[in-house]
Amino acid sequence: MSLEKTFIDYFVQRGHIPTTGSSLIPRPGDPILFTAAGMHPLTPFLEGEPHPLGRRLVGVQRCLRTTDLDEVGDPTHLTVFEMLGSWSLGDYGSEQSLRWGYEFLHDVLGVDPERMHVTVFGGDDRVEADLESLRTWQDLGLPIELTTEDNWWSNGPTGPCGPDSEIFLWTGDGSPEGTPTTDDRWIEVWNHVMVRFRQQEDGSLEPLPQHNIDTGLGLERLSMLLEGKRSVYETDLFEPWMRLLPELWKLDEESERIVIDHLRSSIVIIGDGVRPSNTGRGYVLRRLIRRVLTLLWRFDQSRTLVDLPVELVEHTLRHFHQDEGVTLVQQVLLDEEVRFTDLLQRGRRILGSDRFRKTLDQHDFEYLHQTHGLPRELVQSLIAQESGGSSAPLSLT
Ligand code: ALA
Repeated sequence: MSLEKTFIDYFVQRGHIPTTGSSLIPRPGDPILFTAAGMHPLTPFLEGEPHPLGRRLVGVQRCLRTTDLDEVGDPTHLTVFEMLGSWSLGDYGSEQSLRWGYEFLHDVLGVDPERMHVTVFGGDDRVEADLESLRTWQDLGLPIELTTEDNWWSNGPTGPCGPDSEIFLWTGDGSPEGTPTTDDRWIEVWNHVMVRFRQQEDGSLEPLPQHNIDTGLGLERLSMLLEGKRSVYETDLFEPWMRLLPELWKLDEESERIVIDHLRSSIVIIGDGVRPSNTGRGYVLRRLIRRVLTLLWRFDQSRTLVDLPVELVEHTLRHFHQDEGVTLVQQVLLDEEVRFTDLLQRGRRILGSDRFRKTLDQHDFEYLHQTHGLPRELVQSLIAQESGGSSAPLSLT
């Protein structure tokens, strides 16, 4: 059985109702660009509105974190990832949530408690220490570390927030050492947030009418730990990507991860109805596709997304339960490739003219952007390429 199904079944057996999971696009009027946490679509219900499905929910939510873009290429960060989540909307409290968390990892998934470490909110000048969580973990016999900022969760500068308790698993060889804040071989897998406040514009905390629990467990990261793999890309979730892509395009390991992550994310974003543009969500998509092309062309200029195996598009859309047609997704990717190719050619031609054979100043950059649609970063990359530095970051355009 898949990990998603095992998780959902476990919580259904404990009275939770599965949510369908939302798209990456938040509801209208929401200022956030993309859904970045499983709880995001539940914001009104955490704030007190009754949820039509009840007070106990469980689900899998696709998320996108632009804040993690620069980390992609390492073993664990992904632009689009899936979060398994369980929620108590004013129903049970942290003790119950943590006990189920422990039981699911230990009894259902077979994780050895010797490999577990937890952290708990130790209190600050606004909110007292989370004693309920502390006592629960003491009772379960797990090693505990108290922190303040690392155990406070919010979904942005305003909105629902509260103290949290995180479960870490040991990934090092040999016996566990240190604590989550002193040894990064402790990897966070499951965050349990006690959502009890709303942070206001002025930074103050308003108590919510109900005490909620919001938990989140990154599917790809958990799969990596359970399968004993070195990176999320080596898990079953990425099977067709790792089988087909390295054969098609030879790349170094970091570039290969970025290409896979960005293509997979682009397919999901297109599947949720976004198209490349110069602003907002469309701009994030454009950056992802152009970064892929830049990396591919750094090794071989003749590479093209025409060659992207259809199986990868199909597999991704199916996995994320998206109805968008495969041909349409391919077309959006190819149109963007053509647009980017044209822009690069135009940029090279214009920069090759006498007027720009000098050190460019602010006025030149503005003129090139406003009159010719050539952003500063692209211009700088083209100049770097001309002078032999082919690894310039075209991705930023
Ligand atoms: N919302 C919490 C998180 O994203 C569970 O970590």
